[in-house]
Amino acid sequence: MEFNQIKIEAEKEISPIIGQKDLENWRVKYLGRKSELSLFFNSFKNLPFLLRKKQGNKANQTRQFLLSLYQQKKTDLEKNQPDFEFFDLTRPGEKIKKGHLHPLTLVLREITHSFEKIGFEIVEGPEIETEYYNFDALRISENHPARDMWDTFWLKPKTNPPAGEKKFPLLLQTHTSPMQIRYMEKHQPPFRIIVPGKCFRFEATDNHHEFQFHQVEGLMVGENINLANFKFIIREVIEDIFKHQVELRFRPSYFPFVTPGLEVDIKIKSRSTRARLAQRSWAAKANNEWLEIMGAGMVHPQLFKNVGYEANRWQGFAFGLGVERIAMIKYGIDDIRLFFGSDIRFLEQF
Ligand code: DAH
Repeated sequence: MEFNQIKIEAEKEISPIIGQKDLENWRVKYLGRKSELSLFFNSFKNLPFLLRKKQGNKANQTRQFLLSLYQQKKTDLEKNQPDFEFFDLTRPGEKIKKGHLHPLTLVLREITHSFEKIGFEIVEGPEIETEYYNFDALRISENHPARDMWDTFWLKPKTNPPAGEKKFPLLLQTHTSPMQIRYMEKHQPPFRIIVPGKCFRFEATDNHHEFQFHQVEGLMVGENINLANFKFIIREVIEDIFKHQVELRFRPSYFPFVTPGLEVDIKIKSRSTRARLAQRSWAAKANNEWLEIMGAGMVHPQLFKNVGYEANRWQGFAFGLGVERIAMIKYGIDDIRLFFGSDIRFLEQF
């Protein structure tokens, strides 16, 4: 057994070690159960007596020597731990997963930004509304057949409302139009506002109906406001959002709070984009390429009276834009339920 050789090698190998792991490997190699030294001790009893004495001393000495090398290194490493922790600065970084905006937020921001650029102010209204603001003040009285257009989530009335609080029925707003009334009650024309908001309808869901969705309401009131102003502004905004890739169509329609009322459709100009979207999007198919995106009209004079304006002095236009519709057309999404489904495979694509 070449004890000196072991000592020399062991010493040579331990000196450059700077990490716990390497030290442990060293220990296993020189002092572990399968080390040369341990194997020697295992076979020790088979040696002739004289040799046993001579070799035994050397072996013990070597073991002591190795143990002290090990102890010394171990305390050194512990003392200098932080310095000896190896940190590879050249290692490629790991990609950090970070969140991103929901597709609806992206589209909503684009829409509001486009209106802001032409001087519209953004205001917000409550999601829980009274029957008065959601319906009556907008000329949708209780027995008016038009009420059927807005299937409503009614909230349970409080059984014992606190003193002073009225017990009128509350509901989840079915559209963003109630804010027209709320805003006009507190402000004098001229003004132009948009009201992004969440709406709720008590409806069965399918690929193009959700019981919750978003609208952006618009209202511009002043002297000599007319439909031509409306058409110009909407054209500006829609072309801004769709980068001039759409045509617009204005079509007569009915809403109790406007007169005349109309609806706005858009059509993707490029044939190939249209074909691509038609393959994926329900909207393109169902509407024979024209896609309805908003209801609108000239504010009914009765609304002005309801908020105490001089009805024959002011005119205004109003509109309600469907946010999910814009997002579905823009991104070719064929199922509205995807927006609220939290499916990470869908959301990751934006
Ligand atoms: N509030 C209507 C709806 O939810 C949309 C709408 C139509 C809004 C005409 C308007 C308007 O402001 O003038 O279906």
